Amino acid sequence: MRINIVAGNWKMNTTPSEGVRLVSEIVEKAKGLSNVKLIVAPPFTHIFSVGEKIRKTEIGLSSQNCASEAKGAYTGEVSAEMLADAGVKYAIIGHSERREYYRESGEILLKKLKLALANGISPIFCIGENLNEREDARHFEVVKKQIEEIVFNIDENDFEKIIIAYEPVWAIGTGKTATAGQAQEIHAYIRSVLSEKFGKKAENTSILYGGSCKPDNAREIFSQPDVDGGLIGGASLNADDFIAIAKSF
Ligand code: 13P
Repeated sequence: MRINIVAGNWKMNTTPSEGVRLVSEIVEKAKGLSNVKLIVAPPFTHIFSVGEKIRKTEIGLSSQNCASEAKGAYTGEVSAEMLADAGVKYAIIGHSERREYYRESGEILLKKLKLALANGISPIFCIGENLNEREDARHFEVVKKQIEEIVFNIDENDFEKIIIAYEPVWAIGTGKTATAGQAQEIHAYIRSVLSEKFGKKAENTSILYGGSCKPDNAREIFSQPDVDGGLIGGASLNADDFIAIAKSF
């Protein structure tokens, strides 16, 4: 069964103490929410403290990344095994900021995806086109390639654990959102591409929209049949906004 998900990507925001305050507010305000799975993705430094605050709740703990190698001499990296042992259940992989600023290639992302899955972590795998690609009407081609080169290399049983986040780069942090119609069009297309390889299992994949999703536009976007929730950046740093978005189903 496909589930509705609203995930907060805190990016490089909040100190550990601010993060604990934020998640405590989210826990309080999320009481009674039942038709949507909430996930928070704090920075690595707050994984334990934020994880502790949500341990007895239904809120899921995500990292924003994981290493592309299993262990060893990779100074500064955090492995999927470490994250799993620290209570992490989801990992954002392939965010456009990682692809662009840290040059994460398809090959690296596939290694990350496989390591996350091998450690029982569900990847929230991000895809999406940039502004030039959208203006050249190449968005379908771009997301298809991102899926084929990475997700198609995952085996069928593991595929069930993957969440897809469609995040058009031109909508991230810009205040511009895809219209509900644009989101539906490309989400349906993404599902059809996934079904080429994974058949009916693609019907159960949650496909989230990300990019300037706010309380005032979430309802319309989430009402689309192939939009199963959102990956929220800026608005996830405010508990009221994050919960208002989650209540938009
Ligand atoms: P904004 O919601 O701030 O546009 O960020 C979206 C995003 O990148 C979530 O991963």
